[in-house]
Amino acid sequence: MNQSLNKLLATFNDVLSDSVETTQLHTQLEESMMYSLQAGGKRVRPLLLLATLNMLRPNDYQKGLETAIALEMVHTYSLIHDDLPAMDNDDLRRGKPTNHKVYGEWLAILAGDALLTKAFECISNDTSLSAETRVKLISALSIASGHKGMVGGQTLDMQSESKAVALPVLEQIHLHKTGALIRFAIEAATIIAEIEKNDQQQLVEFANHLGIIFQIKDDLLDLFGTTEALGKQTGSDDVNDKSTYVTLLGREQAEAILARHVEEAEHILSTLAETYDTEDLDYLLKLFYQRQN
Ligand code: IPE
Ligand code: IPE
Ligand code: MG
Ligand code: MG
Ligand code: MG
Repeated sequence: MNQSLNKLLATFNDVLSDSVETTQLHTQLEESMMYSLQAGGKRVRPLLLLATLNMLRPNDYQKGLETAIALEMVHTYSLIHDDLPAMDNDDLRRGKPTNHKVYGEWLAILAGDALLTKAFECISNDTSLSAETRVKLISALSIASGHKGMVGGQTLDMQSESKAVALPVLEQIHLHKTGALIRFAIEAATIIAEIEKNDQQQLVEFANHLGIIFQIKDDLLDLFGTTEALGKQTGSDDVNDKSTYVTLLGREQAEAILARHVEEAEHILSTLAETYDTEDLDYLLKLFYQRQN
């Protein structure tokens, strides 16, 4: 990672480690929430948010920290629930046993619930932002997380198990289950930077490509990556009979579609580079499609 992204990552991880206070209830809830939050994810969504904000408003990224924490909390909750026996039934995540393997199913479900709601607490209590900005962020994050976004996509993903879905349906799965939170990372940066709606269009399109790129790569890694590098069990999609770009089109075509989205995303970045310093976003785009974990 380059120096600037490393700095953003270090600051983010620092704030994250103090993000869940203990209570007087004497339960393992906070431990279970922190277990998954600290298990060592790549943090691509918070990095994308902070790097985009840095690009739009140089050196103002601190204003995005709480929202980045909130986003990582929603993402982590989505992973805890995604791994449950009722969904993908996975035992390994971020190189460690999944939350329900360590804490049991009911606490894993509740840790997910608590992370989701904590995210909205983080944004609503963020005094570095105006009340109006906070409401806009809360609205955007609720839409990205819920039935119109990630949860909607997860539902379509589950409903499509053991079915040969058409390519446009698969694209909707990816745009929602994975794309929605990635899109929020960029949208949140534009909200905090107070960028006009009209000027957001290119960034929103860029984010849509990123969402598809990220999930096609995830599907490829599930089949052709290694459990050791990924920190999650390979072959999970096959066991669950998921519809993915690879099952539908084969490796070569999946890679070709991935490359097409990368080209389009690069093209958008080259246009943005006329106005902004896109170095960090160029780097993140590469990470999205070249990653091995
Ligand atoms: C995994 O996301 C779930 C998908 C949306 C593909 P990441 O690959 O970002 O997982 P972590 O956060 O690094 O563990
Ligand atoms: C899940 O997609 C996306 C989420 C919203 C959690 P996957 O089920 O493919 O994610 P992994 O492969 O388990 O990380
Ligand atoms: Mg899944
Ligand atoms: Mg899964
Ligand atoms: Mg996967």
